[in-house]
Amino acid sequence: MAEKPIILGIETSCDETAVSLIQDDQTGIPKILSNVISSQFDVHKEFGGVVPELAARSHIEKIDLIAKEAIRESRVNLDKVSAIAATAGPGLIVCLTVGLNFGKAMAMSLNIPFIGVNHLEGHALSPKLHSKLDYPYLLLLISGGHSQYLSVNGLGNYKRLGTTIDDALGEAFDKTAKLLGIEFPGGPKLEKFAQKGNPNKYELPKPIINKGGCNLSFAGLKTAILRITKKIKSDQEKFDLAASFQKTIEDILFIKTKKAFEEFNKFNLQDEKKFVVAGGVAANEGIRKKLIEVSNQNNFQTIFPDLKLCGDNAAMIAMVGLEKYKIKQFDSLDLSANPRLSLDVDAKFLKGAGVKL
Ligand code: KG4
Ligand code: ZN
Repeated sequence: MAEKPIILGIETSCDETAVSLIQDDQTGIPKILSNVISSQFDVHKEFGGVVPELAARSHIEKIDLIAKEAIRESRVNLDKVSAIAATAGPGLIVCLTVGLNFGKAMAMSLNIPFIGVNHLEGHALSPKLHSKLDYPYLLLLISGGHSQYLSVNGLGNYKRLGTTIDDALGEAFDKTAKLLGIEFPGGPKLEKFAQKGNPNKYELPKPIINKGGCNLSFAGLKTAILRITKKIKSDQEKFDLAASFQKTIEDILFIKTKKAFEEFNKFNLQDEKKFVVAGGVAANEGIRKKLIEVSNQNNFQTIFPDLKLCGDNAAMIAMVGLEKYKIKQFDSLDLSANPRLSLDVDAKFLKGAGVKL
């Protein structure tokens, strides 16, 4: 029997340098042979956000070491690797270029196919690394740069049902955390803060909650938080504001997800409906609970990526690489990074990484 394909994935779109090797498996769920992630939190902490030039320099310094570690951990000989998949966009151009060029050089020296991957498609397919998941399914992608409801109809085949009209949800978490004096990266820490507070203390706005279909908006929330933080003095008030923010987000997602279910149901008639929640914010426990509740009420089965696959990682990039490898959807070595690569069918044409738009 022919050996199952092995894909080496590379991710450097923002502040994580990551390399992973995965292998196809007869179970339909690939094996993660290694999944090495190096975060740059310490590099950017003092600036309160990601500094692109520093991020790129850190990727350059680390990429070969991370790749070596991932290959060693996987116990795979390089001559057994079937293809190299690297994130081509969206992200910071100076960062994307590091991983993309490293991947192209590897593919060229090993004389194997090179596959450019849309980072968002990586998040979209991330649960396939541990769960059997057939198309179509409804996706809520909530990360630092994106917040979208999409119908995932196939590889490279996405229909947008709703999107944020201003800030991304991860961005709203990070900005609120900053206003509350929580150090970078604030999103995950804000949830811990919220657990010590009263979620009903502050009434916060829920922008476009009764209009705009399943579009989202978080900018008004940030303005309200800014106004309140100017008045609060005690730590307890900060905890209460964090808790009120967390609850407001949960309520917004509950209502908007119900609308997204209705939209999805209009053109998907199958009995078993699946709802995937992916991206960094999908690690939020309160959001997970609330989305399971709304899914149960509407006969959708919720699937979350494992916690270590919610944030940026290279296993999800290799996952997309594996699906593209199976249908021989390869890219040429002159593929360039595209910082604005999109999944939306409604977005205007953006060249690169083979995603149909
Ligand atoms: O998917 P991701 O790792 O990177 C992007 O592609 O953007 O998402 C990062 C975002 C950050 O904004 C981070 O604060 C947020 O996900 N995040 C969280 C949690 N964990 C990560 N937000 C809320 N609660 C969490 N537990
Ligand atoms: Zn991401």
